[in-house]
Amino acid sequence: MSVLEVEGGRRLTGEIDIQGAKNSSLPILAATLLSGEKQIIHNCPQLSDVDAAVKILEYLGCTVKREEHTLEIDPGSVSRWDIPEDLMREMRSSIVFLGAILARMGKALLSMPGGCELGPRPIDLHLDALRKLGVTIEDEHGYLQCKAEDGLHSAKVILAFPSVGATENILLASVLAKGTTVISNAAQEPEIIDLADFLNRCGAKVRGAGKSTIVIDGVERLHAAEHAVIPDRIVAATYLCCGAITGGELLLKHVNPNDLESMIPFFEEMGATISAGHHSVYLKAPSVLKSVRSIRTMPYPGFPTDAQAPFMSVLTVANGSSMFVENIFENRYKHVPELCRMGADIKVEGRVCVVNGISRLTGAVVRAEDLRGGAALIVAGLKAQGKTVIRNIHHIDRGYEKIEDSIMQIGGMIRRMEE
Ligand code: EPZ
Repeated sequence: MSVLEVEGGRRLTGEIDIQGAKNSSLPILAATLLSGEKQIIHNCPQLSDVDAAVKILEYLGCTVKREEHTLEIDPGSVSRWDIPEDLMREMRSSIVFLGAILARMGKALLSMPGGCELGPRPIDLHLDALRKLGVTIEDEHGYLQCKAEDGLHSAKVILAFPSVGATENILLASVLAKGTTVISNAAQEPEIIDLADFLNRCGAKVRGAGKSTIVIDGVERLHAAEHAVIPDRIVAATYLCCGAITGGELLLKHVNPNDLESMIPFFEEMGATISAGHHSVYLKAPSVLKSVRSIRTMPYPGFPTDAQAPFMSVLTVANGSSMFVENIFENRYKHVPELCRMGADIKVEGRVCVVNGISRLTGAVVRAEDLRGGAALIVAGLKAQGKTVIRNIHHIDRGYEKIEDSIMQIGGMIRRMEE
């Protein structure tokens, strides 16, 4: 069983190039199904979630060639419209293929995505929206049998919650639908803008991505395109947390500073100096950080739920108490017991979590329970006295490309080994 072993106590200093965004790559790979023509996607991170998405594309009939961070997808001979259970279970976000398969094949058969580490992952908003676009959906024995017999048509969809995945599925299902579709209360994440940019490059007509109302004028067909995925803002935030907790000095390159705007004030509140360049962010942290009064996770442009765990690790050693309110997912504090094994003083009450800063964490054997919680254990291990061994690191490999190489490159002591 592979583990990551982290030796704490070293200041991280240096430069890191930030990988392409996982949460952009996945819907964009699904979108390559929509035309019958070859698509080239650059800056695709090398992650197990991307591997899972490629397996689904190949299962459906695509040919996929990979050169480093560039994927060439030929969807010319797509003939299947189902995703087998094992592939669905490999990656919870496979649900984003539903809209694309329906748009291409007029039908789809998917197993209900399993719950995941973050609690039940309902897809009611996805399914209600697809029904409005003309899809009939039967849920039989955990399988979703979806059909758009008369083809997909436009609709006005008002989302009860600005769900990222539901917004993506509506975009993918409506770009080839007859008429004009309007999404109200759409998710505004940068990954939505990136997906819309790719679709428009393929000849779609999407307006307003990044705002709460998106308008899609259906077109006859899409054509070949080439696209580079935006940088991963959550990976960038995670490395900034590694710099902050170790009193380090980092320059992150290939980032979009605007996408980090909601997080930067909290690094400043901790006492770090942080500044944005054209495509870079610089951080210099003091040896002792100040606590942060409160961090509430919100839909974009609010503080991202994916950055909650790494920030919590940093604040376990800040001077004073900090409060988190996790408003997006029901069960996103699974890293807390693991941080407490390292000596952290944290109390959870429902969605609220209070972190009382202590002077020192101690290394321990801990377990990643989900992707960002796992990354948070690395952040804590970089500060803890002694050695921290992190198990279940397959969670971390879903979203961080060669994380140990990047951390070693800036002076961290971390290695992947067989336990
Ligand atoms: C995307 O998940 C991201 N995943 C998540 O990142 C991210 O945390 C999340 O958006 C919020 O920003 C990908 O893009 C692959 P949602 P998604 O639909 O689309 C509820 C990571 O670590 N909801 O915006 O699943 C849902 O239960 C991952 O990279 C419904 O109730 O998020 C949750 O409480 C984790 N019904 C909330 O909305 C639905 O039909 C946000 O979900 C859909 C969602």
